[in-house]
Amino acid sequence: MSNEILKKTKLAPQVYDFIIKNEEIAKRAKPGQFVVVRIREKGERIPLTIADTYENSFRMVVRAVGKTTYELCMMEEGQHLSDIAGPLGNPSEIDYFGDVMLIGGGVGIATLLPIAKELKRFNNRLHVILGGRNKDYVIMLEEFENLCDELIITTDDGSMGIKGVVTDGMDLVMKNTKINIAWAVGPTIMMKFCSIKAKELGIEKIWVSLNPIMIDGTGMCGACRVTVDGKMKFACVDGPEFDGEKVDWDELLKRLSQYRDEEEISFGKFKEQVGDLSWL
Ligand SMILES: Cc1cc2nc3c(=O)[nH]c(=O)nc-3n(C[C@H](O)[C@H](O)[C@H](O)COP(=O)(O)OP(=O)(O)OC[C@H]3O[C@@H](n4cnc5c(N)ncnc54)[C@H](O)[C@@H]3O)c2cc1C
Ligand code: FES
Repeated sequence: MSNEILKKTKLAPQVYDFIIKNEEIAKRAKPGQFVVVRIREKGERIPLTIADTYENSFRMVVRAVGKTTYELCMMEEGQHLSDIAGPLGNPSEIDYFGDVMLIGGGVGIATLLPIAKELKRFNNRLHVILGGRNKDYVIMLEEFENLCDELIITTDDGSMGIKGVVTDGMDLVMKNTKINIAWAVGPTIMMKFCSIKAKELGIEKIWVSLNPIMIDGTGMCGACRVTVDGKMKFACVDGPEFDGEKVDWDELLKRLSQYRDEEEISFGKFKEQVGDLSWL
């Protein structure tokens, strides 16, 4: 049956790598696209990026941050997800650009991987910066090592690579190489500062993959609306990738926190039911 969890691997604390059986998505997905998943019939719909595809299955990397993602990360191999819609969103606009900078933070590193693979297929030279809180959160390192021409790791505490943030890595790359196009995927605040830095450094375009709250993921509700270049866009159908130098970041950050109280209540109830989750 479709949507079976074929494989589950722990990548970092609260971060899991899933291989999900679904032939349709495996066949049609392109780098930059995502799925909307419901893990059980009465569950909410959550968007997750397609991190890779195989013959009959696809990969998604999930960080447990609230009720649904915790529940998903607690599922085991052999269990089935109730339904999956996708592939959704526009594929990344990949071409031959020459030297390309790719910046990944946290679970955004998984979103970056298929983009990096496709850019490499087009013979681009990849200057990759991966950042994490500490060395445990710099995921998929080996996969990127095999792919990129320059790799810079930054950690907040200096436990791996350079002590600092990904924007420090951007300065380093630009010392030796002129970059005109970049991709940044990670927490919203990281993408905001990468976009500001890109402008400062004279990078003409920095694609960011936005992660607003989504419901249907197909353009019907507007929950995912963002302002780009002064115009309203729906991230699920017009994106999720946009030019970071044109995004209204403060509006997006504000909208992301609009259900914080409800999310905390729902997660609180969930924790009461399942007990200690620190092992996850
Ligand atoms: C296009 C797209 C692709 C995504 N891809 C991935 C992915 O590959 N892997 C992954 O782990 N997550 C991904 N996300 C984020 C993921 O959808 C959210 O983490 C998830 O919906 C949270 O649900 P929850 O019920 O567990 O937590 P909630 O209770 O809804 O939220 C818990 C906390 O997470 C924050 N949060 C909620 N939604 C988001 C969001 N969309 N982005 C960032 N923070 C959020 C909330 O502000 C809150 O603080 C993606 C989001 C989008 C829009
Ligand atoms: S999630 Fe409803 S329009 Fe994008």
